[in-house]
Amino acid sequence: MKNIVILISGRGSNMQAIVEAGIPGAHIAAVMSNRPDAAGLAWAAERGIHTVVLDHKGFASREAFDAALAERIDACNADLVVLAGFMRILTPAFTRHYEGRMLNVHPSLLPAFTGLDTHQRALDAGCLLAGCTVHFVTAELDHGPIVAQGAVAILPGDSAQTLAERTLAIEHRLYPAAVRDFVAGKLEIRAGRVLRQHASPQQAGTLLAPQP
Ligand code: GAR
Repeated sequence: MKNIVILISGRGSNMQAIVEAGIPGAHIAAVMSNRPDAAGLAWAAERGIHTVVLDHKGFASREAFDAALAERIDACNADLVVLAGFMRILTPAFTRHYEGRMLNVHPSLLPAFTGLDTHQRALDAGCLLAGCTVHFVTAELDHGPIVAQGAVAILPGDSAQTLAERTLAIEHRLYPAAVRDFVAGKLEIRAGRVLRQHASPQQAGTLLAPQP
């Protein structure tokens, strides 16, 4: 059994998708949040999942917060840390500690549009495709070996919100699949990239969204 700790800052819909996927061999050891008001915390607690609140406002520095968070995560014997809308910039010491065992989902086709406002920036740039990326976390924000990507076509009349909604539906399929692959030991990193062991595009982690 692999222990998984999921970190959230808000709604936690990706966390819900991962929990509801019922991944064989995965135990959701805890859901943790840096925000006491994160809606996803109540959802997890109602399902009997151990929840932890660690308010970043109570810490003098980013380093002190990350050290305290790592202590909580390690107390769960975490095999995998899953960032699911965890809106914190992480210190190099933290990312190093979880190297090769921490995943993130980002709402763009990385390496394009790291950071915030990804959908609006894709619209402003006149992109024809938007999407999301599941990747291993490294010290550099929204970089790291890519595990899976899903694309959605940008349609006439799209707003950042409609694009975010269609992309989120893809995240909910992509992220549980990536966690399942990690738990099954299928994700191997070599020279900064995830090895593609499978022939079919679906298994290699590429997902094209069905269009409306
Ligand atoms: C998701 O769209 C995720 O890709 C994004 O926040 C949302 C969280 O939604 N993450 C980032 O922007 C991280 N850079 P959720 O709380 O409902 O899972």
